[in-house]
Amino acid sequence: MCGIFAYQWNKQALPILQRGLERLEYRGYDSAWVCVMDAQGSTKLIKSVGKVSELESKISKQTKGKEEELNAFTRGIAHTRWATHGVASEVNTHPHHDAGNHFYVIHNGIIENHAKLKKQLREKWYTFYSQTDSEVVPALLAEHWTGDLLETVEKVLPLLHGAYALVIMTTHAPNEIVALKRWSPLILWTAPDGFYCSSDMQALAGYATQTVTLSDGELVYIKNNDYIIKAEWKIIKKDLEKLDIKAMDESRGEYETFMRKEIDEQPAIIRRAFMGRVNFDEKAIHADATKYLKDKEIQKVVFVGCGTSYNAGQMGALWMQNIAGIDASAKIASEYMHQRIPTDPKTLHVFLSQSWETADSIEVLKHIKDKGGLTFGIVNVVGSTIATMTDCGFFLRAGYEIGVASTKAFTAQMINILMLTLFLWKKWSLSYDRYTNILHAMKTVPSLMEQIIAQEDAIANVAKEMSRFNNMFFLGRKYEYVVADEGSLKLKELSYIHSESYPAGELKHGPLALIEESFPCVLIAPHDGLFEQNMSSMAEIQSRKWKVLVVSNRETEWADRMITIPSAHPAVMPFLTTMVVQLLSYHVAKELGRDIDKPRNLAKSVTVK
Ligand code: M6R
Repeated sequence: MCGIFAYQWNKQALPILQRGLERLEYRGYDSAWVCVMDAQGSTKLIKSVGKVSELESKISKQTKGKEEELNAFTRGIAHTRWATHGVASEVNTHPHHDAGNHFYVIHNGIIENHAKLKKQLREKWYTFYSQTDSEVVPALLAEHWTGDLLETVEKVLPLLHGAYALVIMTTHAPNEIVALKRWSPLILWTAPDGFYCSSDMQALAGYATQTVTLSDGELVYIKNNDYIIKAEWKIIKKDLEKLDIKAMDESRGEYETFMRKEIDEQPAIIRRAFMGRVNFDEKAIHADATKYLKDKEIQKVVFVGCGTSYNAGQMGALWMQNIAGIDASAKIASEYMHQRIPTDPKTLHVFLSQSWETADSIEVLKHIKDKGGLTFGIVNVVGSTIATMTDCGFFLRAGYEIGVASTKAFTAQMINILMLTLFLWKKWSLSYDRYTNILHAMKTVPSLMEQIIAQEDAIANVAKEMSRFNNMFFLGRKYEYVVADEGSLKLKELSYIHSESYPAGELKHGPLALIEESFPCVLIAPHDGLFEQNMSSMAEIQSRKWKVLVVSNRETEWADRMITIPSAHPAVMPFLTTMVVQLLSYHVAKELGRDIDKPRNLAKSVTVK
């Protein structure tokens, strides 16, 4: 999603901003822009719809032979835009400026009252050139200009509603930059050679040391080689922090795509998740987070997340109920606030997010914290909003996921949830023998996953056939219904093929009406207590001449196509079937020539509500 990068002081800004844009690329975007300014307020602006590499070739064409001249441009702002208001086009790309070309603004988030503000300005005098909500900010700065940048920004701020991060430059005061945040992340890095500002820790990781993470409502005003931070119109002191995160490993090695690399990393990530947390000899789960939960009376668990993270929550709810014996549910974060759910102190709220900034999930977390609820984070990024706001939690230890379609983060979330489930296991729910069976089954997951990878050629062959269809169903029961949900989501986002997921038993209640030969089904049906029921569903499908691909550890002569998987305990089988649906979707997308790591219209971090 949108990304911010800004620099000010004494180095040539353009290469710094270009590198910043490259670091923001993984988030997903559809246009990029860079604007640099010299000490007299002259600007150079270069925009591009498409990849940062396209912007870079524009930059090198436009600046060829003018390298000396560029040394004077020692401040600038750059942005990757993921379209929300207005199509992806040069005119809608940030930074936005006012009619007089004096104020330049980059913006993440949404100005919710932009329509009203635009109307008011239009009625007075103003003509807008873009369809964005963001353009209202430079227009308001021009309207309220007092001759002082900080004062003007402080006059305009109360007029803006919504969640946003902004960085503002003006030709009236070229040595000044204002950056501010309300609900959307922003970090300042005070380096010996200047001030850097980004919406993404990753864009600074590896070289930033002394950073300040702005909190909601805070603003940083940079002038020449100094800065102040203000909150509620008062100057505040904030300690510099050490940015303790590793730079993202941006190399794909021998892999064609990051996604394919990330699929292969899964067994190692699961092994890493156990380290120092699961004692297989003592048959127990220990971690700082579990020490914190030890004395808490937990009667209910609610998982909160979006997309794939929500699917992990659905799996968690089933495990909690079936293994731990605790009432549990999963909630889609963007729906949570509409449901008036009471916050009970005996409920553990588990927040799931591979990134650190999913706005929908953070909104729910803030709400639960305000109500005094008990919170647990299962996240990938140390120091992230969700990690710091929750009472305790587990880190995924999965390393950065660069492919937009989540794979390794999902299985890492699942293994962490399963560990939490086993920790919360109630003796009256499941016998000790059955508890230890699951614990041991968990240990076998990585090697079983490796067996799935070894079957990639067979999966790719089936995927070739799947790629000819325009519609697809994913069906399963219990745990495998959640895998069906995840498989359907993966196929949609990677291949752009329409697909739906259903509990297999629901088919006869409506979806069967869609049956025709061109609408095949993937039935995930391991040989467990539900196998016979799944076979009845298959009979319903086949008697209507539908094609069925069965994913199972038991051969069935009725399947049109089969992917045979190793046997495993039903509670851990989803790790294997998930890998099958990941590889299937990957190969369908590859067959169709899709942009696998950056599917169209999608972003890695979704920072808008
Ligand atoms: O960063 P999060 O885990 O909070 O993101 C939630 C969803 O946006 C994310 O899982 C999305 O559905 C993925 N693209 C799925 O592959």
